[in-house]
Amino acid sequence: MRTKILAGNWKMNTSASEGLALFNEVRSGWNPDSDGILICIIAPPATHLSLVSAEAEQGIYTAGQNCSDQDNGAYTGEISAGMLKSVGADFVIIGHSERRSIFGEANDVLKLKVDAAIRNGLSPIYCCGEQRKEREEHRQEEVVRTQLKEELFHLSAEDFGKVVVAYEPVWAIGTGLTATPAQAQQMHSFIRTAIEENYDKEIAMDTSILYGGSCNPTNANDLFSNEDVDGGLIGGASLKSTDFLQIAKSLSNCVL
Ligand code: PGA
Repeated sequence: MRTKILAGNWKMNTSASEGLALFNEVRSGWNPDSDGILICIIAPPATHLSLVSAEAEQGIYTAGQNCSDQDNGAYTGEISAGMLKSVGADFVIIGHSERRSIFGEANDVLKLKVDAAIRNGLSPIYCCGEQRKEREEHRQEEVVRTQLKEELFHLSAEDFGKVVVAYEPVWAIGTGLTATPAQAQQMHSFIRTAIEENYDKEIAMDTSILYGGSCNPTNANDLFSNEDVDGGLIGGASLKSTDFLQIAKSLSNCVL
């Protein structure tokens, strides 16, 4: 069975002490699953990674929220994938819509970031998804197909096996609007088919595809009940341990 994942993206929230407290609340409420099918990944601000990674235990991993496409050098303010790895991260979020829209990260740089992550032993949590206007124009499949093709599908089969995909419709992120379970399933199935076409069926069936965008304790169950939804990438609701753990419970009920 492919890995089921609940990931929390804290974005630019929490001080170091608040982050440590939040992480420890999640850790003490997390029910480790002995088969390792269900895992938790927390992406705190990079400044707290070392602190929280030291507290991570069985079934709980940490992630960077972004990394440079370069390994080192004169890039003031940047953080490399190797640096994230050196403070305990195992994953890094790449291509989040906020990186794309606010920081102007385009397909060519995202492709390089995917490569930097893999080169440095991190698994990319690769985000894709359409904007509101693109959905209104029924172009969501075309948009996501292009993102996958230009940013991710250059990887070898072996390296692609390290990738987690997150489908995050941009119109649903932080807006309170959620994709309906049917919309999520349709796009997840579309992504899985695209992976099969580019690699093979076995790789497609083994890839964890997460849903992100206003997922909360109320809608989590319906979203996770879909066969191609393997978990969630949670923003706002990951900042409250009770909400995050409630979502974890839904995922565990749906998949274990
Ligand atoms: P949200 O964010 O859950 O607050 O909508 C999701 C994300 O940005 O990954």
